[in-house]
Amino acid sequence: FMSAPGQGVKIMDMIRRPRRLRSSQAIRNMVHEYEVELSDLIYPVFVVEGTGVKEEILSMPGIYHYSLDTFRIHLEEIWNSGVRAIIFFGVPEHKDAMGSEAYNPEGIVQRAIRLTKEAYPEMICIADICLCEYTDHGHCGLIHDGKILNDETLEMLSKAALSCAAAGADMVAPSDMMDGRIGHMRRALDDKGFGDVLIMAYSIKYASAYYGPFREAAHSAPSFGDRKTYQMDWRNKKEALVEAELDVEEGADILMVKPGLAYLDILKTISDEFPLPVCTYSVSGEYSMMKAAALNGWIDEKRVVMETMTAMKRAGAKMIITYYALDIARWLKE
Ligand code: PBG
Ligand code: ZN
Repeated sequence: FMSAPGQGVKIMDMIRRPRRLRSSQAIRNMVHEYEVELSDLIYPVFVVEGTGVKEEILSMPGIYHYSLDTFRIHLEEIWNSGVRAIIFFGVPEHKDAMGSEAYNPEGIVQRAIRLTKEAYPEMICIADICLCEYTDHGHCGLIHDGKILNDETLEMLSKAALSCAAAGADMVAPSDMMDGRIGHMRRALDDKGFGDVLIMAYSIKYASAYYGPFREAAHSAPSFGDRKTYQMDWRNKKEALVEAELDVEEGADILMVKPGLAYLDILKTISDEFPLPVCTYSVSGEYSMMKAAALNGWIDEKRVVMETMTAMKRAGAKMIITYYALDIARWLKE
């Protein structure tokens, strides 16, 4: 095939030239396959008690704790950005062994959802359902003798889901990784007349170091031990199929793979194997890594973020939870 300089390749032999499809921006736009859309984006919000609070999370520049009054102002920015889905995380003042603020009808997340629905009924409100932000020990379930009480925890999680549904949540998203939670929650919601509330299951949730900045943000690091008896071992893949299968059987509407970037293979498999929409969560550590490099001037933030998010779409994500949602919404308009 190689030819001496000047001699040239016989052009007629080369009928297939993939570069033709890349020859101009217009052609590239015409033939491109994957794209992040505004309607794919879900924006995480941390709400706290008190008033006048807008406190930046140290390891996540650009992401804040909001009290309800400052959140109300931020909510307008969110709405104006075109993003139409928020996932709420609560950082309560009071924590106890039972995580009781998680299912307080007047809890911080419940109030934030009510406020959002009053202002913008069309904003999709998703409630993250877990106990770790609400328990004094920081674990995602109830604890006895240093061990997780799986089945007893289900009751609390369903109560939390019910209180958020009553506040107007369109969707509940259990992130605890207890066995049987989707079925328990589905039954509880149906029994209480919330048959229309969707369940987005954190089906495939690995015990990941990428959650580090979130735990600082949510004050939810476990006070002893780790989450490895309930979150998944990242050395495994088959387990992901089991978790997804159970959640489908138990009535999940949407499956989630979390984290995103380091788990694209899992995302691809789950999206190929299961006939439900799949969401991925580009978690706090992913945001922090990109943001830190961007602030140092080491990467082109917009281009790296868009490339990363598009990779998630390519791997099979329908929607993406990302702290970059508002930036992406802006970039999509540019
Ligand atoms: C609560 C929860 C966590 C995240 C979402 N829900 C933390 C954890 O499991 O420790 C992580 C989100 C992120 O890192 O952005 N169970
Ligand atoms: Zn948790």
